[in-house]
Amino acid sequence: MTNRGGDVRLTGISKTYGSLTAVHPLDLTVPQGSFFALLGASGCGKTTTLRMIAGLEEPTAGTVCLGDRDVTRLPPHKRPVNTVFQSYALFPHLDVFENVAFGLRRRGIRSVKKQVEEMLELVQLGEQARRRPHLLSGGQQQRVAVARALINHPEVLLLDEPLGALDLRLRRRMQQELKRIQTEVGITFVHVTHDQEEAMSMADTVAVMNAGRIEQLGAPADLYERPGTAFVANFLGTSNLIEAEVHSTNGDDVVLTAGGGRLAVPRARCAAPVRTGGRVLLGIRPEKTSLTHADDSAGIPAGRNRVAGRITATSFSGVATSYVVDSAACPGFEAYVQNIDRDPRLVPGAEVVLHWNPAHTFGLDTAPAARAGAAEAGEEART
Ligand SMILES: Nc1ncnc2c1ncn2[C@@H]1O[C@H](COP(=O)(O)OP(=O)(O)OP(=O)(O)O)[C@@H](O)[C@H]1O
Ligand SMILES: [Mg+2]
Repeated sequence: MTNRGGDVRLTGISKTYGSLTAVHPLDLTVPQGSFFALLGASGCGKTTTLRMIAGLEEPTAGTVCLGDRDVTRLPPHKRPVNTVFQSYALFPHLDVFENVAFGLRRRGIRSVKKQVEEMLELVQLGEQARRRPHLLSGGQQQRVAVARALINHPEVLLLDEPLGALDLRLRRRMQQELKRIQTEVGITFVHVTHDQEEAMSMADTVAVMNAGRIEQLGAPADLYERPGTAFVANFLGTSNLIEAEVHSTNGDDVVLTAGGGRLAVPRARCAAPVRTGGRVLLGIRPEKTSLTHADDSAGIPAGRNRVAGRITATSFSGVATSYVVDSAACPGFEAYVQNIDRDPRLVPGAEVVLHWNPAHTFGLDTAPAARAGAAEAGEEART
């Protein structure tokens, strides 16, 4: 595709509605050709941000640039940007072919056949060309909407919860499909979703939004392994967070106490500075934690972080069992154990030791509420 326009750059962009600040001033660069996801709970300002890029919403302050062009004052149709909405908004009286041809016809282009056919092939809908939208499945309608936007050769495609109406399996398939299309056409995709798995599996870069601000931005694996705030640690997957006191530092490790026991975290994995006597929120992912019956605890290798507790609940999901363990250090600690050999003693009431590699631990500032991000939806986390 020609005429690529460079990065999307938002500078100090904000939006207020009366006394409500939907988007606090934010700076954001979306590299050209990348698959970028804006992830956050309902009401955090994702759609508002997207609409400001599209020109459908006027920013209260700040600028929108595409490459070195300032497009802040341009109306939507003058921007090299197209949007795919959750509702698809297909024309019901036009068949698939004419829906896709629409943008070309509107610009007065007569011979549309070749381009439309190429586009239908890209989204694998050649066979459905003469069908009306109401005869298509949700996934097919979604692909028509993508084709209809892409035929205009936008520099940036904005997608607002494009898979929200689909059932889970179709959603997973369409995620792969959208990813393939993006790789093939090579243009910038900005994808809005509240589904963390969707964001992580599709995007090169994920920006986690919370109450009108970007909390953290990075590659999916980096965000997951090194969350910078309790909100991100809880919103992106599950984290066990333990309030601990800094006991001492030992080389590159910080030694902490919690519930009467010692725990270690590499200093390099602490998001905030640590000082002896200060408090840190220690984080560890459920799948990085092992669970050993207390009777076998002598066999746990030295050097691992350990927390003794009691199982309060278990749930078997086929590939794994999830255990909830209460301890002095942390109530409701979750551990996922892959289903290889199941220990029949690991039932509610059993005394166990949770243990993990200290290198997998991360340290967070205790200031923002530890549970922030755990509860879904528009709960406005105080920042
Ligand atoms: N036109 C408007 N007038 C007043 N308030 C608005 C308007 N549009 C959005 N808001 C408010 O701005 C905030 C952010 O809304 P936005 O639609 O950007 O959220 P979102 O992250 O897209 O949420 P969802 O996941 O539910 O779509 C919300 O509190 C919303 O009620
Ligand atoms: Mg929205």
